[in-house]
Amino acid sequence: MDICFLCKQENHLLLQSELSDFLPSIQFSQTHQKGFIIAHGMSKLPKFSLYQSDFIFEQQRIVEPITLDMQESSLRKIAKIFVEQYFREIDQSILSWTIHSFYLQNDNNPNLSSLSKNTKKWILELVKERLPRAYKRYIECSDSIGVSENYHIVQFMILDSKKIVLAVNQKNMGISVYEQGISRMKWNKLAPSRSFLKIEEAFWYMKQRPQHKEVIIDLGAAPGGWTYSALSSGALVTAVDNGPIKLSLSSEMKKKITHLKQDGLSFIPKKPVDWLLCDMLIQPNQTLQTLDTWFQQRLMKYFVVNVKLPNASPMRIIQNAKTLLESAALAWWKIKSLYHDRQEITLMGSFIHRVQKPDVQMIDT
Ligand SMILES: C[S@@+](CC[C@H](N)C(=O)[O-])C[C@H]1O[C@@H](n2cnc3c(N)ncnc32)[C@H](O)[C@@H]1O
Repeated sequence: MDICFLCKQENHLLLQSELSDFLPSIQFSQTHQKGFIIAHGMSKLPKFSLYQSDFIFEQQRIVEPITLDMQESSLRKIAKIFVEQYFREIDQSILSWTIHSFYLQNDNNPNLSSLSKNTKKWILELVKERLPRAYKRYIECSDSIGVSENYHIVQFMILDSKKIVLAVNQKNMGISVYEQGISRMKWNKLAPSRSFLKIEEAFWYMKQRPQHKEVIIDLGAAPGGWTYSALSSGALVTAVDNGPIKLSLSSEMKKKITHLKQDGLSFIPKKPVDWLLCDMLIQPNQTLQTLDTWFQQRLMKYFVVNVKLPNASPMRIIQNAKTLLESAALAWWKIKSLYHDRQEITLMGSFIHRVQKPDVQMIDT
């Protein structure tokens, strides 16, 4: 089986190395585009282990892709062939379905955006006309649809001016519900930093966020994006950072925040808390050491910890992070390079078993 993986351009080699570690016999097709990897030989794995979780640097996957040559004039024809030949599975299914129609950003052709929008329109028109039963089960692509239920995701990717990659997959194959796997979070103009988007994305990914009156420690909190996100949920936050917290808060929220100008590396709460949030700008192994201390004393139920990756040997840090998480007797954990992360990864997890199923299956121990 072939799988086409999408990732951020700068994560191309990291994802390749992650895939090779996962399955040493894996082969890659040479592609001239960064951020687009075709992996061959994935069939050597049982499906469940392949679909069980997504890879750290993977943004989206297209399973068993069909690659076609494209001439702009013939795109409508391709949409027709696609519906005629590949929609049988959807037509015969009881599941809902949606379309992700997009183009890869790294092409200079200005028409690709409108072409991908038109293609979606054409596919929908054709399905309405020829497969009315299937058309009734169509749902608009949105992250609010079925967080844990399964549905078909049709992917139609214009790779560049010459090639199209398409597939009919099901969400439980590890397909991101976001088109192209880009999980853009909603900006809040009261948030003081773009880091706010990172923590919102982490909470979305965990399908879990701080609750009213839960106790949060935010290490490396300034200027306050993560703190603001937790306060918005009604949580009680201790923000630890020598830097200034730049939030203009309602009087209600002001009662819920304590700012401590202390070193987050040595900060220990007097008693265990609900959440550890940590986004300190420090060496990655120092972050892991801090997390280890918290694990050993079981000081939190949930955690979101951002680890800055070094330029040299980032995979070694990732391995250290995995070893730490594996040894911590957690109920579940996950490492992800989030869409809003830069040269960093986010460690998420908990000592508490989850009630709601996550969108992507996590490693449950
Ligand atoms: C990327 S910023 C955090 C952004 C923050 N999460 C937000 O949402 O606004 C990194 C922060 O780590 C803090 N920091 C670095 N070393 C620290 C330490 N040893 N203890 C506490 N904070 C530290 C810096 O002062 C800086 O404010």
